[in-house]
Amino acid sequence: MPENNKNLLQTMGDFKALEYTQAVAEIMSLRKRGQVPLAYIRTYGCQQNVADSQKIQGMLSLCGFEFADTPDDADLILFNTCAVREHAEDRVFGNVGALKNLKRSHPSITIALCGCMMEQKHIADRIYKSFPFVNLVFGTHSIHNFAKLYYECLTYGKRIIVAETDDRVIHEEVPVKRDGEFKAFVPIMYGCDNFCSYCIVPHVRGREKSRSSASVLADVKQLINDGYKDITLLGQNVNSYGKGLEENITFAELLRQIDAIPGDYRLRFMTSHPKDCSKELIDTIAGSEHIERHLHLPFQSGSDRILKAMNRKYTRQDYIAIAAYAKEKIPELQITSDVIVGFPGETYEDFAQTLTLVEEVGFSSLYTFIFSPRAGTEAFDMQDETLPQEKSNRFAELLKLQEEISHRRSAAMQGQTVKVLVESKTDKPGMVSCRTSGNIIIEAQGEQSMVGTFKQVQITSAGNYVLKGIILD
Ligand code: SAM
Ligand code: SF4
Ligand code: F3S
Repeated sequence: MPENNKNLLQTMGDFKALEYTQAVAEIMSLRKRGQVPLAYIRTYGCQQNVADSQKIQGMLSLCGFEFADTPDDADLILFNTCAVREHAEDRVFGNVGALKNLKRSHPSITIALCGCMMEQKHIADRIYKSFPFVNLVFGTHSIHNFAKLYYECLTYGKRIIVAETDDRVIHEEVPVKRDGEFKAFVPIMYGCDNFCSYCIVPHVRGREKSRSSASVLADVKQLINDGYKDITLLGQNVNSYGKGLEENITFAELLRQIDAIPGDYRLRFMTSHPKDCSKELIDTIAGSEHIERHLHLPFQSGSDRILKAMNRKYTRQDYIAIAAYAKEKIPELQITSDVIVGFPGETYEDFAQTLTLVEEVGFSSLYTFIFSPRAGTEAFDMQDETLPQEKSNRFAELLKLQEEISHRRSAAMQGQTVKVLVESKTDKPGMVSCRTSGNIIIEAQGEQSMVGTFKQVQITSAGNYVLKGIILD
């Protein structure tokens, strides 16, 4: 295996599509006459999509591909798409349209679209009709079949649009090629069963299914052996991990088993759903060596009426109680959250309850979204009389409040010395970006050689989101 594939976590012997990767490699070596084929992959959306793109990169590496930073010289251009909000979909349509001229001047390139958007029939139909230069379309349930689909595209020269709906099987054998050498995502489950009334994810990712703890532990052990320092376990609702498995295991138990693996690494996870966030989970974080002091716990709305309409299955008081328990057990814990503004029927009084919840819990940061109607979800057909301008005003009010809170929280950290992972060089010469256990970014003077190592940093000044510090050793 080439040296640059050393991160390829694979069980190549079991990879059923191996023969297709070899066939693609042969076709490309004939076409490229000794030059390395290049792929450009653009990933939209959440970490789940990033993890999927890394599987596609794994398969492409086995096909002999390297990866380009721009589409210009690529033999394959692939967009892995997100359907969560209309804006995300519009960006994809715009960026696909922009490839028309490139395809005209280089007809041999393959343009492929995959991911959550492509699991929606109306989208696949629109791509078929309006973007005839797109060669291959497949959804989240067909990722493991990518090498076969690409082979068919190259061989038969036909457009391939796959509408695969079977979401029951987890394909463990697919190789993974990660970006970078010290941060890794490990999906522990796929899909979602919650059907929050606004959310497209269960419709495009299928039913929830957990990987076996043995597979997850094997991946994490391998990553730690390979020197990875920051490992994030992924799932749409990690707190319900284990449901449907033959083994009897909870998410907290899985965390304890991983935490027992010796080594110098950090363990993160996302996303937690408040309805399943147990005291056992909080106690596990509190007693662990490697789990980060950060909880991403989306509350979506502070109004019980709206939470009910969202089908979230917890109340404002449930949320406040679990957040208070977490902060009592882990005083240094940083909580972040997702919030939707302008859900159908949200009055200003409902929104005011979101503001008071934000004040009461004291988040370190918030991911805020204006409600976006998604065809196929329950909320799509709900009466929505709030004017867009009013929604924007509420959104701005929420941002302003959170800025003040973030500023207060950052100011309180000034003077503290904290352990960080140095993650990257910044645009400013001689500066590096570091992340604390609580997921807070600190900029400090430093060099490339520090990237991927743990350091102690003293915090010297505080902005709203980025703090400044000095690396002590
Ligand atoms: N599974 C996670 C959870 O339950 O918190 C989050 C998944 S979703 C990919 C990320 C965030 O997008 C959600 O927490 C929600 O705030 C936001 N979101 C989802 N659907 C949305 C919609 N239709 N309009 C606006 N925001 C939406
Ligand atoms: Fe969407 Fe709700 Fe599932 Fe999260 S838990 S992915 S918001 S349906
Ligand atoms: Fe988007 Fe799919 Fe993630 S809809 S947010 S990429 S699960």
